Amino acid sequence: MLIRSFQPSDEPAVIALWQACDLIRPWNNPQLDIQRKLAVQPAMFLVAAADQRVMGTVMAGYEGHRGWINYLAVSPTERLQGIGRQLMQAAESALKAAGCPKINLQVRDGNDAALAFYERLGYGVDPVVSLGKRLLADDSHTADV
Ligand SMILES: CC(C)(COP(=O)(O)OP(=O)(O)OC[C@H]1O[C@@H](n2cnc3c(N)ncnc32)[C@H](O)[C@@H]1OP(=O)(O)O)[C@@H](O)C(=O)NCCC(=O)NCCS
Repeated sequence: MLIRSFQPSDEPAVIALWQACDLIRPWNNPQLDIQRKLAVQPAMFLVAAADQRVMGTVMAGYEGHRGWINYLAVSPTERLQGIGRQLMQAAESALKAAGCPKINLQVRDGNDAALAFYERLGYGVDPVVSLGKRLLADDSHTADV
């Protein structure tokens, strides 16, 4: 298995993976999300792959103050083998190399498995409330992350 930057030919497999991992919501268009990421720090959009088989993804980004993580996913059939940890280590290395001092990330309410995973990797719950405001309506829904 190799962790490398996303390539356009990965798109169908990546979207299928996100669907299998229940990461896609009606208000997030995955093709558009990929298109936007390819315009901003594309090297920080990572996939775990063996040949063309995509087993995991993580989308990282640094905006000059904090690093952010999105679309962390490992195929349901490949979990608990360390792939998620390796993806996060690669994302953390890329962010650190860019000068990023701290990572923030959001976990949806009820995703206790993801919380347990991040805690194993040394992440803690910050005393903050997460706010959001949509600037572009990708479809009729307007209120989620
Ligand atoms: C969260 C996710 C990426 C973890 O991927 P993974 O490859 O199974 O994780 P790893 O095998 O690297 O596990 C790393 C550590 O977390 C622990 N861990 C992973 N999943 C866990 C779970 N569901 N419950 C408790 N601990 C868990 C592992 O036991 C391991 O601990 P250890 O290294 O101390 O032994 C994967 O479950 C997933 O894709 N979930 C669906 C998508 C999702 O919720 N993404 C996060 C959005 S915020």
